[in-house]
Amino acid sequence: MYQANQAGSYMLGDLEVIRMGYGAMQLAGPHVFGPPGDRQQAIAVLRSALEMGVNHIDTSDFYGPHITNQIIREALHPYRDDLVIVTKIGARRGTDGSWLKAMSPAELESAVYDNLRNLGVEVLDVVNLRLMFDVAAPAEGDLEAPLAALAELKRKGIVRHIGLSNATANQIAQARTMTDIVCVQNQYNLAHRGDDPLVAQLASAGIAYVPFFPLGGFSPLQSATLEQVAADCGATPLQTALAWLLQRSPNILLIPGTASVGHLRQNIAAAALHLSSDAVAALDTIGGIGGIGGIGAATPETASQ
Ligand SMILES: NC(=O)c1ccc[n+]([C@@H]2O[C@H](COP(=O)([O-])OP(=O)(O)OC[C@H]3O[C@@H](n4cnc5c(N)ncnc54)[C@H](OP(=O)(O)O)[C@@H]3O)[C@@H](O)[C@H]2O)c1
Repeated sequence: MYQANQAGSYMLGDLEVIRMGYGAMQLAGPHVFGPPGDRQQAIAVLRSALEMGVNHIDTSDFYGPHITNQIIREALHPYRDDLVIVTKIGARRGTDGSWLKAMSPAELESAVYDNLRNLGVEVLDVVNLRLMFDVAAPAEGDLEAPLAALAELKRKGIVRHIGLSNATANQIAQARTMTDIVCVQNQYNLAHRGDDPLVAQLASAGIAYVPFFPLGGFSPLQSATLEQVAADCGATPLQTALAWLLQRSPNILLIPGTASVGHLRQNIAAAALHLSSDAVAALDTIGGIGGIGGIGAATPETASQ
């Protein structure tokens, strides 16, 4: 049995994904801009992820831009039948690497075609509409026009399923009146738990919740409590943080990011880690249920993807 499979699986629409996936953002250069220092290493990470049973890769054409998707294509194309690649649109990169809103219908259509070309596919499995009303955190704003444009691309058959990213509960409710939503990708981890009620709501609706920054993002989680629980479990703190997410709710899918094969192996091994109820209770003190903890939580600057 592949190691990642020990996390179990969940449905993204009609696509079954292993709950331990991989986030490809770290494969671009520094600040997710430009090429990586070691392209062969990036290719090795992707191939190793699949060898360990991962069948869910999260990406975007604005990583690089274009570069991460081109590396995925070079490493994995022709794609395994069970591989599900989830991409996101709604932003573009400035010449200085800044993250800019690109949510007009024309920009969204062009982004879908960029993703198709760079990934080398005829249909995108899942496209998340990355809302950019506030780059760093969910903020209210009317998504009717951008979502209608994406739904039209789904109707044309070049997008299979739609998700939302950086979305509020109101926006998710509005979106669900317009089209099927298979996943929501927001910032969430041990120390950043503002979406606790949303995770439960989505679970009861059969919608996946895919936390970004599951390890804390560019500044990985650090906490004495996490270290202690990890030591008691014989695991690393970051493996423990991933195991906590897997146990938190069955609709949570993991996409930890790394540019290192060694870190990838450690992360995927967390699929087999079981936390006792005492360990979970101790970890729950870090962020406080429904709260945003003070440790290792990403700053607005690091939350800008
Ligand atoms: N929708 C959005 O707005 C949004 C925003 C951000 C990210 N995302 C998606 O979410 C995915 C995950 O987020 P992320 O990659 O930013 O953050 P993350 O998974 O929370 O953490 C990645 C960071 O942790 C380090 N790391 C990973 N495994 C490690 C290990 N075993 N030991 C020590 N350090 C380790 C990585 O460095 P190394 O490379 O050195 O391992 C990197 O600095 C991204 O890849 C992307 O697909 C989406």
